Amino acid sequence: MIRHVSIIGTGSYLPEHIMNNDDLSRLVDTSDEWIRTRTGIGERRISVSMSTSDLAYEAGAAALRNSGLEPEDIDLIICATITPDYFMPSCACMVQDRLGAVNAAAFDLTAACTGMIYGMVTAEQFIKTGMYDNVLVIGAETLSKILDWEDRSTCVLFGDGAGAVVMSGTDRGLKLSATNLESDGSKYELLTCPAIPLDNPCVNTEFIEAETDLNEITGAEMSAQSMIKAAGQSKIRMLGQEVFKYAVRTVTDNIRVLLCKANLDIEDIAYIVPHQANQRIIEQASKTVKIPIDKFFMNLDRYGNTSAASIGIALDELVAGNMLSKGDKVILVGFGGGMTSGAVLLERT
Ligand code: ACO
Repeated sequence: MIRHVSIIGTGSYLPEHIMNNDDLSRLVDTSDEWIRTRTGIGERRISVSMSTSDLAYEAGAAALRNSGLEPEDIDLIICATITPDYFMPSCACMVQDRLGAVNAAAFDLTAACTGMIYGMVTAEQFIKTGMYDNVLVIGAETLSKILDWEDRSTCVLFGDGAGAVVMSGTDRGLKLSATNLESDGSKYELLTCPAIPLDNPCVNTEFIEAETDLNEITGAEMSAQSMIKAAGQSKIRMLGQEVFKYAVRTVTDNIRVLLCKANLDIEDIAYIVPHQANQRIIEQASKTVKIPIDKFFMNLDRYGNTSAASIGIALDELVAGNMLSKGDKVILVGFGGGMTSGAVLLERT
């Protein structure tokens, strides 16, 4: 028998330190006026002492409290992040330990800003098959550590934070009614942050340093070469205008696909919670799919783009603000590096 899957608790955590646009204008050649008109962002939270796992723990603990479950009830913890404390151990294992979720399996997932959506859909599969009953999904980022604070085209956009949901095999709460995931790896260069480069005694440094004809080398060698050249540059690089176009197209596509899967019209939807990247992206999507802008929930003016955390934080604000009534339907829609995109339709039961 297919099981229902619902979100039964939400939580979020934002670091205390606020960095506003004027603070940024003292670091790079920018202004409050430019940032607000191009992005809608007024300020963002920046962590001064907490790591990603600290933020993830706080958001996860809040979601767990709000779900009414005990740590021992959690069967799986998924943490979506592109800014973990370590490559190993996973952020999810660190959270498991601090929560005392002794019965949980735990792993991290990478889908950049679509991480929360990928996490929820992954959790849904474990619950639907009956393998697990209760899954904690967290999106957490300290993007401030991978920003180039001299690059005004990226450092003004992002912030730190964490959002979380507890999902269970029940139709009580925010029931998942339809989902969609997409990826387009051919566009991976639009948003990048290199990991550590290939470094071992067998690496042919002469080859790497030589002015090689890129047409004569294999894909694998090309990849090694570009990775080594990127050594020590684990910073976000972005082709902003291309990302903008991808974002508008995939937000609108994902909304249409979900409505079609659920056999609903846009009038049936109470709120859309988009990934909080940029107000202009959301305004453009609202025009394209002809959805009034006030149906889009936005808090990016206060937090900027918190990548995998943004949808969880926004959903928690929607729930904590008692903005949802029985029967309300909500679409969560994300897009991000990879490139990736996806959406989840929720119904308040
Ligand atoms: N302050 C002042 N001027 C700036 C700034 C800044 N912070 N950043 C760029 N500029 C300048 C540029 O240097 C350029 O100057 P020039 O004309 O002298 O060369 C000028 O502003 C225009 O630059 P554009 O890149 O054309 O500006 P655009 O209108 O495209 O806005 C922006 C840039 C806001 C980044 C836009 O492209 C965008 O929103 N893209 C999507 C970004 C995004 O959402 N990324 C994350 C999504 S996925 C994820 O979350 C990981």
